[in-house]
Order: sequence, then C-alpha cells, then structure tokens
Amino acid sequence: MKLRILLTGKKGQIGAKLAVLLPGLGEVAAFDRHELDLLNPDHVRRAIRDVQPNVIVNAAAYTSVDQAEREEKQARIINVDAPALMAEEAKRIGALLVHYSTDYLFDGSSSLPYAESDQPNPINVYGKTKLAGEEAIRAVGAPHLIFRTAWVYGTTGRNFLLTILRLATEREELKVVHDQFGTPTWSHEIANGTTLVLRQLYEQGRKTISKFGGIYHMTAAGKTTWFEFAKVILEEASRMPRGIPWFEAATKGRPLDTRRVTAIPAEEYPTPARRPAYSVLSNSRLKQDFGLELPAWSLQLRAVFAECQING
Ligand SMILES: NC(=O)c1ccc[n+]([C@@H]2O[C@H](COP(=O)([O-])OP(=O)(O)OC[C@H]3O[C@@H](n4cnc5c(N)ncnc54)[C@H](OP(=O)(O)O)[C@@H]3O)[C@@H](O)[C@H]2O)c1
Repeated sequence: MKLRILLTGKKGQIGAKLAVLLPGLGEVAAFDRHELDLLNPDHVRRAIRDVQPNVIVNAAAYTSVDQAEREEKQARIINVDAPALMAEEAKRIGALLVHYSTDYLFDGSSSLPYAESDQPNPINVYGKTKLAGEEAIRAVGAPHLIFRTAWVYGTTGRNFLLTILRLATEREELKVVHDQFGTPTWSHEIANGTTLVLRQLYEQGRKTISKFGGIYHMTAAGKTTWFEFAKVILEEASRMPRGIPWFEAATKGRPLDTRRVTAIPAEEYPTPARRPAYSVLSNSRLKQDFGLELPAWSLQLRAVFAECQING
C-alpha cells in the first residue's frame, strides 16, 4: 500500500528526521509552522482536507518546558486543541494519527521505569498540556499511535547536546544536575522507530491498527543523568576533528574550554518549571508488539558524532 502522509512540524528535531525517512513509505506532504499553524484551527482542517492523508504524523508541538509556565494558553492550543482537531479529522476520513508525547507526564516518584499503564501525574505546565493532548486524542476515538519519548537531542534545534557544546566554549567549569534520571534519545532514532512501526502496520500488513494502536514508550535503552550525559558529550566532542559543519556551528569554531564538569543537585539550578527526578520509560510494549528496541543512549550519542563525521 502506498501511503499518503501529512507531516506537521517538519523543521523540528523529530520532524526534520521524519521528513527524510517518511518518503520511503509513500507520498509526504510536509508542513512547517508558517505553512500550517497549529494555533489556527482552519489551517489544520484545511491541510488535512486538502491532502486527504492515510496517516497524519504530528511532530509539531509547544516544547519550551520553562516558557510554558507563563504561556499556558498557547501551549494548550498547540498541545491539546490542535491534536484533538487532528484526531477528529482523522476519524472523519479514516486516517491514522501518529502523535508524540513525553516522559514529563510522570512525577518522578518511581525508581523503576514507567510503563504505559502507570498513572501520569505531571508536575509542570508542559507535562499537563501533553497529558491533556493524549487524553483528547483518545477521547475522539480515532485510530492513533502516541509515542512517548524523552530528552530529545540532535545536531539541529534547541537541545542539551548543542547547549553543552556552546557552554563548553564559554566556561572553564560546567555545573550540571546529577539527581534527575532519564534517557537521552536521538531524534533520528525516534523518526526511524516511527517509520519502522508504520511499515509493519501498512506495508507488511502484519498488524492491525485496532489491535496495536494506543500509547507506546519509545526512548533509547538505559538511563543516565544530565551530569553524566554532559560528561560523555564532552568526551566525544574532544575527539571531533575540525571542519564538521554542525559541530563548527555548535561551537562557533571556538576551542572547547571546559576543564571540569561539576555535579550539582537540581535545587542549585532553579528553573521556572519543575522536572521529575526520575522519568525513565520502559519500552517493553514496543518490543513486544513490534520487535523494536532502540539502541542504548550512549551508543546513540556516539552515532551522532560518528555519522556526522561521515556526512558532515
Ligand atoms: N524535545 C524533547 O526533549 C522532547 C521530549 C519528550 C517528548 N517530546 C515530544 O516530541 C515531539 C517533537 O519534539 P521535538 O523535540 O522535535 O520539538 P521541536 O524541535 O521543538 O519541534 C517542534 C516543532 O513544532 C513547531 N511548532 C511550534 N509551534 C507551532 C505552531 N503553532 N504551529 C505549527 N508548528 C509549530 C516548531 O516550529 P518552530 O521551529 O518554528 O518553532 C518546531 O518545528 C513533541 O510532541 C514533544 O512534546 C520532545
């Protein structure tokens, strides 16, 4: 079956990777914020009615966790109302809605990886809007897949990897939080995982959406802290040759000055939004239903540096 896919957020971290991979499944109509503004319900409706997709992949979202604390209304329109409308339109034309959600739905009081069946209890506005978005999609009753992921990074966009590389050119010492546990996940792996799931559902026709829809956790394997993640980033970065475009852009071509990375508790790094102390997700449902297991976070990070040395 050749799919017709509508992709939102084509310039985001995950969206940009999907824009490269989804054409392997069919025809893709991809939109950025200017072409399809989620704040405008008419845009959403019109795009879906024009394209008449079999699959809508919503990679657009309000993702600024701290800013959401003071922009709740806007975050809700983008993260709740727009996905709900997509679900309604998907139901009307019999399309599948693929949507992304977050580990920040959980309050972090667990010390075991969260399963899809665990009770969410978000502790910040961003997490609350993402949970309400999931609930709104489910309430509409359209066929859907919601992939909850975490700590997304890549070589473009706003993310921890690029922030650490920039700070490492500006400061001799970096202080990084050591008491929040989670799993950094490369945007490419999430887009690839999404594509593999869709291929199983449609191309190979081995699975039925009614049986395999719903929520799936999709993160790298393993867990770490922001502190450990920063240390490994700097180790990898110290081996990078000059002249790799994304790395030169991230460091503005300057040498890395950081000599020391110091572990600090979250309470010494106050932010407008609270973050869970533990938000590791169990990916066993994804493995069980689709045989899919994303590589360990440290391997993914190494692959980002290695791939970008090859591809620039
Ligand atoms: N980033 C993370 O650490 C993380 C963790 C867990 C889950 N997730 C989830 O994963 C999904 C993708 O995240 P990401 O990291 O790829 O985010 P991202 O890089 O911030 O991309 C989000 C995209 O949405 C677009 N967007 C924002 N407001 C919009 C609007 N009103 N209309 C249309 N597009 C709009 C943004 O456009 P501009 O580029 O113009 O701003 C951006 O291209 C989201 O559902 C997010 O909640 C992310």
